[in-house]
Amino acid sequence: MASTLRFYVTFLTLLLFSLWVVEAHTSRKLISIKEQEGQNISHLLKDGEFDDPSLYMFFRIKDLKLGSKLLGYFNKNDLENLPPLLTRQEADLIPFTNSKLDFLLDHFSIPKDSPQGKAMKETLARCNFKAIEGERKFCGTSLESMLDLAKKSIGYDSDLKVMTTKVMVSSQNTKSYTLHNYTFVEVKELVGIKMLGCHRMPYPYAVYFCHGHKSGSKVFEVSLVTDDGRQRIVGPAVCHMDTSMWNADHVAFKVLKIEPRSEPVCHFFPLDNIVWVAK
Ligand SMILES: *[C@@H]1O[C@H](CO)[C@@H](O)[C@H](O)[C@H]1NC(C)=O
Ligand SMILES: *[C@@H]1O[C@H](CO)[C@@H](O)[C@H](O)[C@H]1NC(C)=O
Repeated sequence: MASTLRFYVTFLTLLLFSLWVVEAHTSRKLISIKEQEGQNISHLLKDGEFDDPSLYMFFRIKDLKLGSKLLGYFNKNDLENLPPLLTRQEADLIPFTNSKLDFLLDHFSIPKDSPQGKAMKETLARCNFKAIEGERKFCGTSLESMLDLAKKSIGYDSDLKVMTTKVMVSSQNTKSYTLHNYTFVEVKELVGIKMLGCHRMPYPYAVYFCHGHKSGSKVFEVSLVTDDGRQRIVGPAVCHMDTSMWNADHVAFKVLKIEPRSEPVCHFFPLDNIVWVAK
């Protein structure tokens, strides 16, 4: 067992994990589940504005229309330099439960109180919930397990598709991952679509927290361009129409400067997220 673990999770992997954990975590901010613990985000505010660009991922539904402008940030987590995606066979060899945290920290040589250790603890806690009847959420530790769980959750006979956010530039331009003013140039609602959003969680290998959106969410495919026209974003967006059960301290309400739980909250997806959709 020990040698197997060491074999798959190398020193380089852990280095990448460390760098990645220290960076801002957009996924965590998007997990809009009601049991989410309150976050004190006052340290992120500078002159009343948010200093962390990755918060510019939320928007209001009234702004979701052609020609409408908004600030947006699409993170640059270099997709090649992320902790690896394991095969199901590999992932199944590694325990993935809260109760094995000490064992896992020891095996990955991660101190319990380091940012990485805390992130692992949080990810395991987030993933080791008891499923509630009718609720669609799960954690996938490999692409195969994610696909199986997505089918189980959305329906075996559905035609599953994957959507991700893409940053596109014409050949002579380079991608610029900073905060930009964007304009919506395409907004298409995917009517009657079931959807699962899978957010990448901090862990020494790829772990996705997936959650489904039941009635009360609208799914869109949108396209945005920067003011200088050099960069285009194409990807999914979701609007949570009913936020009445959300934590009143959810970061989205603060970023959007709206009364908590008073109106829908929409968001884009970071580049490393996977969105499954099915008719
Ligand atoms: C949040 O943190 C700031 C300092 O970072 C503190 O002044 C403030 O009282 C805290 N608010 C809550 C609600 O804990
Ligand atoms: C976005 O546009 C506003 C208004 O035109 C401008 O003040 C701001 O500096 C722009 N921000 C960025 C990041 O380009």
